[in-house]
Amino acid sequence: MNKVCVLGLGYIGLPTAAVLSAHDLEVIGVDLNPDVVKTINQGAIHIEEPGLSGWVQEAVSSGKLRATGSPVPADVFIIAVPTPITAECKADMSCVRAAAQSIISCLRPGNLVVLESTSPPGTCRDLLAPLFESAGFRIGTDLFLAYCPERVLPGKILTELVENDRVIGGMDESSTKKAIALYDRFVRGKLIATTATTAEVVKLMENTYRDVNIALANETALLCEELGVDYWEMARCANHHPRVHLHSPGPGVGGHCIAVDPWFLVEANPEGTSMIQEARRRNDDMPRKVAEKALAMTASIEKPVIAVLGLAYKADVDDLRESPALKVTEFLQQARVDLRLCDPFVKTDRYPVQSLESCLQGADMILLLTDHSEFKTVSPVQASEWMRNRKVFDTRRALPRGSWVQAGFEFTCLGVGL
Ligand SMILES: NC(=O)c1ccc[n+]([C@@H]2O[C@H](COP(=O)([O-])OP(=O)(O)OC[C@H]3O[C@@H](n4cnc5c(N)ncnc54)[C@H](O)[C@@H]3O)[C@@H](O)[C@H]2O)c1
Repeated sequence: MNKVCVLGLGYIGLPTAAVLSAHDLEVIGVDLNPDVVKTINQGAIHIEEPGLSGWVQEAVSSGKLRATGSPVPADVFIIAVPTPITAECKADMSCVRAAAQSIISCLRPGNLVVLESTSPPGTCRDLLAPLFESAGFRIGTDLFLAYCPERVLPGKILTELVENDRVIGGMDESSTKKAIALYDRFVRGKLIATTATTAEVVKLMENTYRDVNIALANETALLCEELGVDYWEMARCANHHPRVHLHSPGPGVGGHCIAVDPWFLVEANPEGTSMIQEARRRNDDMPRKVAEKALAMTASIEKPVIAVLGLAYKADVDDLRESPALKVTEFLQQARVDLRLCDPFVKTDRYPVQSLESCLQGADMILLLTDHSEFKTVSPVQASEWMRNRKVFDTRRALPRGSWVQAGFEFTCLGVGL
């Protein structure tokens, strides 16, 4: 096992390719996007990820990694291409299918194929195995097939690729053993063997577990507001129970994983997944609830100006995919509110972001939607000098209530009914 072909050089494929090449493997990275191929072959990167640039530069300059537009024969093929959902909330497997088809002419007896893309249950068994078998291969005899999901945290991908435990599910025992031998080359975490379909469900269940628990937190946070209780204080106390881990409420769920992956389980059995669907609906409804509350808080002001702090789906990243903050701003724009947007991480022309100071100048209310570290240190005294009215709606419990109240602000926090 010396040569690995990685298909898809995005957030998952590129760091994986770089780490594999640092562990004495020859790596060929394949991507359909010619700009991606060109950038990588120049030793540069096209995505934001701390530390990745150095790894790729080293891998390319040492000749261990090169990128190309189409696959070449290798010992191992790793598929890490996108698996988005369609408008009907169904898994779009076209990239996985195309990637698998593209390697067929390169496959040789004894090769291992590993799918890393988040995929619906049964993808290896019902999509990939039949595809390779129809090309004349027998899975477990002359071709080995396994699923190994990714659970890395953007921003810490290079550390987590090596440190995290990995679940590895083969179509048969020999496939599992071969895949474990591959990951054993660079993973320091545990390698947990199971079946391919179990591993597929593991990945989906991890994110569904979080989605359902966030929905529970959101529902309970709204209940706490009615009960005159602080959800965050209640959760702090409850989480001292050794087997309880209440999640944090917020303006909704974003990113391309937690808000997407539960739909892959729903698709497998729409009638048998009502709880998962209800959680999705609850979380998807939060942006509307937050926007309505923000409108109610500014109802007495003629032509209110709302300063929106944060557009990214979570703290300290630039990722806008499925961001609930964007959905909140859409609701507010529909209500014709004058919005000012501030997000130090967002650099796209699509959203006219401003500096914190120009965002707050003359504003009536701060609506905090993303808990970027920078926002936590905003001075309430300074903000009170810049703003026309002193109101704050904190949807992440990111700001210190006491100092804002002391500076004369009417302070509202999601989930706090005091
Ligand atoms: N990004 C994450 O944090 C993360 C975490 C866990 C799982 N995943 C899963 O990993 C998979 C990949 O996600 P990503 O974030 O790396 O995607 P990405 O969009 O960053 O990159 C995917 C790359 O694949 C390329 N591609 C598409 N079709 C191809 C084909 N047929 N052959 C070769 N290249 C092709 C695209 O041009 C793109 O560069 C998805 O299933 C995703 O759900 C991602």
